[in-house]
Amino acid sequence: MNGIFYFSSTGNSLYIAEQIKAELGGEIRYIPKFAGEVNAYDKIIIVSPIHSFGLPTLVYDFLSNMNSTKPLYIVLNCGGMQANAPYYTYQLCKEKGLNIRSVQVVMMPEIYTLSFSQPKFVINMVLRKAPKRIKPVIAAIRDDKEIVVPKPKKDKWTPKHLENRKIWHMLAKDFSITENCTDCLKCVRICPVGNIKRKNGQIIFGDKCVACLSCYHRCPERAIVYQDKRKKDRYINPLVEEDNIGADQL
Ligand SMILES: Cc1cc2nc3c(=O)[nH]c(=O)nc-3n(C[C@H](O)[C@H](O)[C@H](O)COP(=O)(O)O)c2cc1C
Ligand code: SF4
Ligand code: SF4
Repeated sequence: MNGIFYFSSTGNSLYIAEQIKAELGGEIRYIPKFAGEVNAYDKIIIVSPIHSFGLPTLVYDFLSNMNSTKPLYIVLNCGGMQANAPYYTYQLCKEKGLNIRSVQVVMMPEIYTLSFSQPKFVINMVLRKAPKRIKPVIAAIRDDKEIVVPKPKKDKWTPKHLENRKIWHMLAKDFSITENCTDCLKCVRICPVGNIKRKNGQIIFGDKCVACLSCYHRCPERAIVYQDKRKKDRYINPLVEEDNIGADQL
Protein backbone atom coordinates (compact mmCIF):
# COMPACT_ATOMS: atom_id res chain seq x y z
CA MET A 1 0.00 0.00 0.00
CA ASN A 2 1.11 3.59 -0.68
CA GLY A 3 1.77 5.89 2.25
CA ILE A 4 1.03 9.43 1.09
CA PHE A 5 2.56 11.78 3.65
CA TYR A 6 1.84 15.49 3.44
CA PHE A 7 2.31 18.83 5.11
CA SER A 8 -0.06 21.61 4.13
CA SER A 9 -1.02 25.03 5.44
CA THR A 10 -3.79 26.04 3.07
CA GLY A 11 -4.63 22.79 1.29
CA ASN A 12 -2.49 22.94 -1.87
CA SER A 13 -0.35 19.97 -0.88
CA LEU A 14 -3.40 18.15 0.46
CA TYR A 15 -5.11 18.62 -2.91
CA ILE A 16 -2.15 16.96 -4.66
CA ALA A 17 -2.11 14.16 -2.06
CA GLU A 18 -5.81 13.55 -2.71
CA GLN A 19 -5.23 13.36 -6.47
CA ILE A 20 -2.46 10.81 -5.89
CA LYS A 21 -4.71 8.74 -3.63
CA ALA A 22 -7.54 8.87 -6.18
CA GLU A 23 -5.23 7.55 -8.94
CA LEU A 24 -2.88 5.20 -7.10
CA GLY A 25 -4.67 4.37 -3.84
CA GLY A 26 -3.10 4.42 -0.40
CA GLU A 27 -3.42 6.19 2.92
CA ILE A 28 -3.00 9.94 3.39
CA ARG A 29 -1.07 10.79 6.55
CA TYR A 30 -0.44 14.26 8.01
CA ILE A 31 3.29 14.53 8.78
CA PRO A 32 3.14 16.56 12.04
CA LYS A 33 0.83 13.98 13.67
CA PHE A 34 2.40 10.81 12.29
CA ALA A 35 3.81 8.58 14.99
CA GLY A 36 3.70 5.26 13.12
CA GLU A 37 6.21 3.32 11.05
CA VAL A 38 6.82 4.47 7.47
CA ASN A 39 8.09 1.00 6.59
CA ALA A 40 4.56 -0.35 6.97
CA TYR A 41 4.01 1.05 3.44
CA ASP A 42 5.29 -0.38 0.15
CA LYS A 43 5.87 3.03 -1.44
CA ILE A 44 6.43 6.28 0.43
CA ILE A 45 5.15 9.43 -1.26
CA ILE A 46 5.78 12.82 0.35
CA VAL A 47 3.86 15.92 -0.74
CA SER A 48 5.20 19.21 0.56
CA PRO A 49 5.17 22.92 -0.18
CA ILE A 50 8.46 24.66 -0.85
CA HIS A 51 9.31 27.09 1.95
CA SER A 52 11.90 29.72 1.17
CA PHE A 53 13.65 27.76 -1.63
CA GLY A 54 13.83 24.62 0.50
CA LEU A 55 11.72 22.41 2.73
CA PRO A 56 9.37 23.37 5.58
CA THR A 57 10.97 22.61 8.95
CA LEU A 58 8.60 19.77 9.78
CA VAL A 59 9.13 18.03 6.44
CA TYR A 60 12.89 18.46 6.74
CA ASP A 61 12.78 16.87 10.21
CA PHE A 62 10.54 14.04 8.98
CA LEU A 63 12.88 13.20 6.09
CA SER A 64 16.00 13.55 8.22
CA ASN A 65 14.67 11.09 10.79
CA MET A 66 13.38 8.58 8.25
CA ASN A 67 15.07 5.22 8.22
CA SER A 68 13.83 3.29 5.22
CA THR A 69 14.87 1.64 1.98
CA LYS A 70 11.33 1.69 0.58
CA PRO A 71 10.96 3.52 -2.76
CA LEU A 72 10.49 7.20 -1.99
CA TYR A 73 8.80 9.75 -4.26
CA ILE A 74 8.62 13.44 -3.41
CA VAL A 75 6.20 15.94 -4.89
CA LEU A 76 6.96 19.55 -4.04
CA ASN A 77 4.67 22.44 -4.86
CA CYS A 78 5.25 26.15 -4.89
CA GLY A 79 4.02 29.50 -6.11
CA GLY A 80 6.39 29.51 -9.09
CA MET A 81 9.85 30.01 -7.59
CA GLN A 82 11.18 26.50 -7.00
CA ALA A 83 14.82 27.70 -7.05
CA ASN A 84 17.00 24.71 -6.13
CA ALA A 85 14.56 23.15 -3.68
CA PRO A 86 14.32 19.93 -5.77
CA TYR A 87 18.08 19.42 -5.71
CA TYR A 88 18.29 20.36 -2.02
CA THR A 89 15.60 17.76 -1.26
CA TYR A 90 17.11 15.10 -3.52
CA GLN A 91 20.53 15.62 -1.99
CA LEU A 92 19.15 15.39 1.55
CA CYS A 93 17.55 12.03 0.67
CA LYS A 94 20.80 10.76 -0.82
CA GLU A 95 22.78 11.86 2.27
CA LYS A 96 20.31 10.04 4.51
CA GLY A 97 20.62 6.84 2.46
CA LEU A 98 16.97 6.92 1.39
CA ASN A 99 15.81 5.14 -1.76
CA ILE A 100 14.80 8.34 -3.55
CA ARG A 101 13.21 7.67 -6.95
CA SER A 102 12.05 11.16 -7.93
CA VAL A 103 11.57 14.72 -6.76
CA GLN A 104 8.98 16.54 -8.88
CA VAL A 105 7.44 20.00 -8.64
CA VAL A 106 3.94 21.30 -9.35
CA MET A 107 2.95 24.96 -9.42
CA MET A 108 0.09 25.92 -7.09
CA PRO A 109 -1.26 29.26 -5.83
CA GLU A 110 1.29 31.32 -3.87
CA ILE A 111 0.51 31.67 -0.16
CA TYR A 112 3.49 33.72 1.00
CA THR A 113 1.40 36.82 0.50
CA LEU A 114 2.11 38.80 3.66
CA SER A 115 3.29 41.84 1.75
CA PHE A 116 1.68 41.51 -1.68
CA SER A 117 -1.60 40.24 -3.10
CA GLN A 118 -1.99 37.54 -5.68
CA PRO A 119 -4.69 38.63 -8.19
CA LYS A 120 -7.76 36.35 -8.12
CA PHE A 121 -7.51 35.58 -11.82
CA VAL A 122 -3.98 34.25 -11.32
CA ILE A 123 -5.10 32.00 -8.46
CA ASN A 124 -7.99 30.69 -10.57
CA MET A 125 -5.77 30.11 -13.58
CA VAL A 126 -3.20 28.16 -11.54
CA LEU A 127 -5.96 26.05 -9.97
CA ARG A 128 -7.49 25.37 -13.38
CA LYS A 129 -4.17 24.14 -14.73
CA ALA A 130 -3.30 22.06 -11.66
CA PRO A 131 -4.95 18.73 -12.68
CA LYS A 132 -3.11 18.72 -16.02
CA ARG A 133 0.19 19.49 -14.28
CA ILE A 134 -0.32 16.80 -11.63
CA LYS A 135 -1.17 14.03 -14.11
CA PRO A 136 2.37 13.33 -15.42
CA VAL A 137 3.73 13.59 -11.89
CA ILE A 138 1.39 10.81 -10.76
CA ALA A 139 2.23 8.75 -13.87
CA ALA A 140 5.95 8.94 -13.05
CA ILE A 141 5.24 7.62 -9.54
CA ARG A 142 2.96 4.87 -10.85
CA ASP A 143 5.62 3.78 -13.38
CA ASP A 144 8.41 4.02 -10.80
CA LYS A 145 10.29 6.31 -13.16
CA GLU A 146 13.67 7.28 -11.75
CA ILE A 147 14.26 11.04 -12.02
CA VAL A 148 17.73 12.15 -10.98
CA VAL A 149 17.90 15.83 -10.04
CA PRO A 150 21.22 17.16 -11.35
CA LYS A 151 23.46 19.40 -9.27
CA PRO A 152 22.91 23.02 -10.33
CA LYS A 153 25.96 24.80 -11.77
CA LYS A 154 25.54 27.68 -9.35
CA ASP A 155 23.31 27.72 -6.28
CA LYS A 156 22.66 31.09 -4.70
CA TRP A 157 19.27 29.95 -3.35
CA THR A 158 20.14 27.19 -0.90
CA PRO A 159 22.36 29.51 1.22
CA LYS A 160 19.41 31.93 1.37
CA HIS A 161 17.16 29.07 2.47
CA LEU A 162 19.58 28.08 5.22
CA GLU A 163 19.75 31.69 6.43
CA ASN A 164 15.97 32.17 6.32
CA ARG A 165 15.23 29.02 8.29
CA LYS A 166 17.22 30.47 11.20
CA ILE A 167 14.71 33.33 11.56
CA TRP A 168 11.41 31.56 10.88
CA HIS A 169 10.69 31.22 14.60
CA MET A 170 10.52 35.03 14.78
CA LEU A 171 7.78 35.45 12.17
CA ALA A 172 4.91 35.22 14.63
CA LYS A 173 6.40 38.11 16.63
CA ASP A 174 5.11 40.29 13.79
CA PHE A 175 1.58 38.91 14.05
CA SER A 176 -1.06 40.71 16.05
CA ILE A 177 -4.72 40.04 16.73
CA THR A 178 -7.35 42.60 15.76
CA GLU A 179 -10.63 43.44 17.44
CA ASN A 180 -12.36 41.08 14.96
CA CYS A 181 -11.19 38.03 16.90
CA THR A 182 -14.17 36.03 18.18
CA ASP A 183 -12.09 33.83 20.45
CA CYS A 184 -13.01 30.73 18.45
CA LEU A 185 -9.57 29.18 19.19
CA LYS A 186 -9.26 27.73 15.69
CA CYS A 187 -5.73 29.12 15.39
CA VAL A 188 -4.76 27.39 18.65
CA ARG A 189 -6.14 24.13 17.27
CA ILE A 190 -4.53 24.21 13.82
CA CYS A 191 -1.02 25.50 14.53
CA PRO A 192 1.15 22.46 13.69
CA VAL A 193 3.67 23.18 16.45
CA GLY A 194 1.39 24.38 19.27
CA ASN A 195 2.79 27.90 19.04
CA ILE A 196 -0.51 29.68 19.71
CA LYS A 197 -2.10 29.79 23.15
CA ARG A 198 -4.88 31.63 24.92
CA LYS A 199 -3.64 33.34 28.06
CA ASN A 200 -5.53 35.80 30.27
CA GLY A 201 -8.27 36.02 27.65
CA GLN A 202 -5.81 36.82 24.86
CA ILE A 203 -4.36 34.93 21.90
CA ILE A 204 -0.59 34.88 22.18
CA PHE A 205 2.21 33.52 19.98
CA GLY A 206 5.25 31.69 21.33
CA ASP A 207 8.71 31.34 19.87
CA LYS A 208 8.30 28.00 18.06
CA CYS A 209 6.75 29.36 14.85
CA VAL A 210 7.70 27.48 11.67
CA ALA A 211 6.33 30.23 9.40
CA CYS A 212 3.67 28.03 7.81
CA LEU A 213 1.01 30.80 7.71
CA SER A 214 -1.85 28.38 8.51
CA CYS A 215 -3.16 30.66 11.25
CA TYR A 216 -2.85 33.77 9.08
CA HIS A 217 -4.80 32.33 6.15
CA ARG A 218 -7.33 30.22 8.00
CA CYS A 219 -8.55 32.52 10.78
CA PRO A 220 -12.24 32.85 9.86
CA GLU A 221 -12.27 36.54 10.86
CA ARG A 222 -8.93 37.47 9.20
CA ALA A 223 -8.08 38.73 12.65
CA ILE A 224 -4.42 37.71 12.47
CA VAL A 225 -2.51 40.50 10.77
CA TYR A 226 1.15 40.88 9.86
CA GLN A 227 3.07 44.00 10.93
CA ASP A 228 -0.29 45.62 11.60
CA LYS A 229 -1.13 45.68 7.89
CA ARG A 230 -4.86 45.37 7.30
CA LYS A 231 -4.49 43.30 4.16
CA LYS A 232 -7.74 41.53 3.39
CA ASP A 233 -6.76 38.68 1.08
CA ARG A 234 -6.46 35.22 2.54
CA TYR A 235 -6.36 31.88 0.73
CA ILE A 236 -7.64 28.36 1.34
CA ASN A 237 -7.56 25.86 -1.53
CA PRO A 238 -11.21 25.70 -2.66
CA LEU A 239 -10.81 22.15 -4.04
CA VAL A 240 -10.35 20.49 -0.63
CA GLU A 241 -12.53 20.27 2.48
CA GLU A 242 -10.83 22.66 4.86
CA ASP A 243 -11.43 20.31 7.79
CA ASN A 244 -9.28 17.72 6.03
CA ILE A 245 -6.19 19.95 6.23
CA GLY A 246 -4.21 18.38 9.04
CA ALA A 247 -6.20 15.13 9.02
CA ASP A 248 -5.40 11.61 7.86
CA GLN A 249 -7.48 9.90 5.19
CA LEU A 250 -7.19 6.15 5.60
C1 LIG B 1 7.17 30.36 4.59
C2 LIG B 1 6.82 30.13 3.16
C3 LIG B 1 7.82 30.21 2.20
C4 LIG B 1 7.52 29.99 0.86
N1 LIG B 1 8.55 30.01 -0.03
C5 LIG B 1 8.31 29.79 -1.35
C6 LIG B 1 9.37 29.79 -2.30
O1 LIG B 1 10.56 29.89 -1.96
N2 LIG B 1 9.06 29.66 -3.62
C7 LIG B 1 7.76 29.52 -4.03
O2 LIG B 1 7.53 29.44 -5.22
N3 LIG B 1 6.73 29.47 -3.15
C8 LIG B 1 6.97 29.59 -1.82
N4 LIG B 1 5.94 29.54 -0.91
C9 LIG B 1 4.58 29.25 -1.40
C10 LIG B 1 4.15 27.80 -1.19
O3 LIG B 1 5.18 26.89 -1.51
C11 LIG B 1 2.93 27.45 -2.07
O4 LIG B 1 1.97 28.44 -2.03
C12 LIG B 1 2.36 26.08 -1.68
O5 LIG B 1 1.50 25.67 -2.70
C13 LIG B 1 1.59 26.09 -0.35
O6 LIG B 1 1.09 24.81 -0.12
P1 LIG B 1 0.21 24.40 1.14
O7 LIG B 1 -1.12 25.08 1.02
O8 LIG B 1 0.05 22.91 1.01
O9 LIG B 1 0.96 24.77 2.36
C14 LIG B 1 6.19 29.73 0.44
C15 LIG B 1 5.18 29.65 1.42
C16 LIG B 1 5.48 29.84 2.75
C17 LIG B 1 4.39 29.74 3.78
S1 SF4 C 1 -8.75 31.84 14.67
FE1 SF4 C 1 -8.94 34.05 14.51
S2 SF4 C 1 -10.93 34.50 15.45
FE2 SF4 C 1 -10.35 32.45 16.12
S3 SF4 C 1 -9.25 32.75 18.07
FE3 SF4 C 1 -7.69 32.73 16.44
S4 SF4 C 1 -7.43 34.89 15.91
FE4 SF4 C 1 -9.35 34.76 17.04
S1 SF4 D 1 2.05 30.49 14.68
FE1 SF4 D 1 0.92 30.46 12.74
S2 SF4 D 1 2.53 30.65 11.18
FE2 SF4 D 1 3.56 30.07 13.07
S3 SF4 D 1 3.64 27.82 13.03
FE3 SF4 D 1 1.77 28.33 14.12
S4 SF4 D 1 0.16 28.34 12.53
FE4 SF4 D 1 2.17 28.43 11.49
